[in-house]
Amino acid sequence: MTAEADLPSRGLADPGLAGFPAPTYRLVSIPGDGVGPDVVGVARRVLAAVGARFGFGIAWHEIVVGGAGIDAYGVPIRPEDLAACAASDAVLLGAVGGPRWDDPTATVRPEQALFAMRGGLGLFANLRPVSVHPALVAASPLRPELLDGVDMLIVRELTGGLYFGARGEAAGVIGARAAHDLLPYTEPEVARVARLAFELARGRRKRLTSVDKANVLATSRLWRTVVHEIAAEYPDVALDDRLVDACAMQIVRSPASFDVLVTENLFGDILSDEASVLAGSLGMLPSASVGARRTAHGLHGLYEPIHGSAPDIAGQDLANPIGTILSAAMLLRWSLGRSDAAEAVERAVSAALDAGFRTVDLWPRDPAAAEACTRVGTVGMADAILARIGAEVSQLAAVRP
Ligand code: IPM
Ligand code: MG
Repeated sequence: MTAEADLPSRGLADPGLAGFPAPTYRLVSIPGDGVGPDVVGVARRVLAAVGARFGFGIAWHEIVVGGAGIDAYGVPIRPEDLAACAASDAVLLGAVGGPRWDDPTATVRPEQALFAMRGGLGLFANLRPVSVHPALVAASPLRPELLDGVDMLIVRELTGGLYFGARGEAAGVIGARAAHDLLPYTEPEVARVARLAFELARGRRKRLTSVDKANVLATSRLWRTVVHEIAAEYPDVALDDRLVDACAMQIVRSPASFDVLVTENLFGDILSDEASVLAGSLGMLPSASVGARRTAHGLHGLYEPIHGSAPDIAGQDLANPIGTILSAAMLLRWSLGRSDAAEAVERAVSAALDAGFRTVDLWPRDPAAAEACTRVGTVGMADAILARIGAEVSQLAAVRP
């Protein structure tokens, strides 16, 4: 295992942890495919910078996973890669997949690495916060008045349901082929993600929407029953139920009406992509996948932007790195217990947007609005954010005794 060091101020490279500043966190980096290496590369610089400001070090272990893993080793992820993830404090991932490995009938596919990590590391909840930065309201396809106050957190169950149920691939004679996918859920699977969602709602505006299809599916009726039983433990949280079809409508009709949503795996996959449109660009949004396991510093987890590998713009300094940088902020908060550093990163992102820095996906359509903006690439956006981490920290230092 090779550990590269991002050492605060000393600039030394030390293969072990001896001599590192305390604390030094052990992170796994998975650049993956397409724009993954572009965005993970700059997010690592941001983590190094906040580490330097807040006095902690990061020992990185980089692994080759996804399409890159198929090319290098013939498999999307190896057992030793999974073991390295499990031994880390947290994992930062760029993206996996691309047209080169896209054959849906192939037995080896990049996405299998995601399922192996989700299942193998017990990451049963995927958290996707969606908010709209005021400067980007014009970039959203929704009317500005609908976006006022949008601040939702989607909690998607990640290791059950259709994704992990038994499948029967298409078989039979042409004209009469059949296939099936099973949707199983157990009470403990529903209960643990529901509890996490109640806890998260308790720390926010205390409203939880549970999304199901209880008018059709047996698993949804189990889901609803269990969520309501657990609600008794959280009398301070207001719970309501939505059928998934009605919820999909409400997300675009009155997105500000939601606080925390909790739902099963496939519904969460679909609704979270729908909700991401609110933020103006897929490139803006972070995600965290967490489970029950704690390290010495916090919840073990995997952090990644919600966008895909965007192979058409890979390696061209065009990708918006904000989704990955905000994922790194979530990593700091949830897995390392460093809310101080997480807030510094989030404020620096906000300040860079306020200052008018825009990647191509965020570029205003209105020429008058564009005049006040500066067009930057992946590295330019990261530099704008890095510059504001310094400013942010000296401001914080100035108000502290
Ligand atoms: C996501 C993605 C994955 C999923 C794909 C790449 C398999 O869409 O993380 O939301 O469906 O879970
Ligand atoms: Mg998805």
